Amino acid sequence: MNIMTFQTNEELNQIAASIVASLVQTKPNAVLGLATGSTPIGLYQELIRLNQKGYVSFKNVKSYNLDEYVGLPADHSETYRTFMNTQLFDHIDIDKNNTYVPNGNAPDLDAECQYYDEMLAAASLDMQLLGIGHNGHIAFNEPDDQLHSGTHVVQLKEETRQANARFFSSIDEVPSQAITMGVGSILKAKMIMLIVRGAEKADIVKRALQGPITTEVPASLLQTHPNVVVLLDKEAAKHLDA
Ligand code: F6R
Repeated sequence: MNIMTFQTNEELNQIAASIVASLVQTKPNAVLGLATGSTPIGLYQELIRLNQKGYVSFKNVKSYNLDEYVGLPADHSETYRTFMNTQLFDHIDIDKNNTYVPNGNAPDLDAECQYYDEMLAAASLDMQLLGIGHNGHIAFNEPDDQLHSGTHVVQLKEETRQANARFFSSIDEVPSQAITMGVGSILKAKMIMLIVRGAEKADIVKRALQGPITTEVPASLLQTHPNVVVLLDKEAAKHLDA
């Protein structure tokens, strides 16, 4: 694992964006696995800037998002589709027909999961971007005694609903289920970029990156991948051994 620690968020975002931009410059039809949540917002702003200045084009890029809530109305401001459009896709030259987010309102959720897996298998992710939950989840693969390899419907843990309640007017509005890519699909990506910010994630960063590999900390499975780059702010890195 290549672990980099940054003094400022600005530097972290610039390096993260330059890694994504270099990939897309080298391979204009790259397939990107994307994430939502607060973690990637600064990276997305930097990618928008690089795109608008003409340094990188996403015209031929395809993207697949990690997850989506089940049952939120499609026009709800907190669907991950809305998030991706407003935080990134609306501001860059990507063809939105080439951007995929699981459909959390599909009439048959199991069929939707299977369809998503078939697309992922055919596409092959060049890079998967990840954040991490306080409990060590990646995408919505929650800690458990076993993990799913493929896309599946997951019951969100109460701590995850609590953590995400900040985006909703009350905890009751936070969906209790989501569709998520499985860890198998994530680990198949040629490269993985994990970004973590903030002191409240320092303990889980230590457990994920330097603790035992266990399904109780899904992010610890990243230790088995040959090409992971981790970008941390200094707060998130504070418990790591040098
Ligand atoms: C988002 C996702 C989640 C988040 C994680 C951290 O698509 O799959 O795993 O990356 O919950 O969320 P933030 O960035 O809001 O702290």
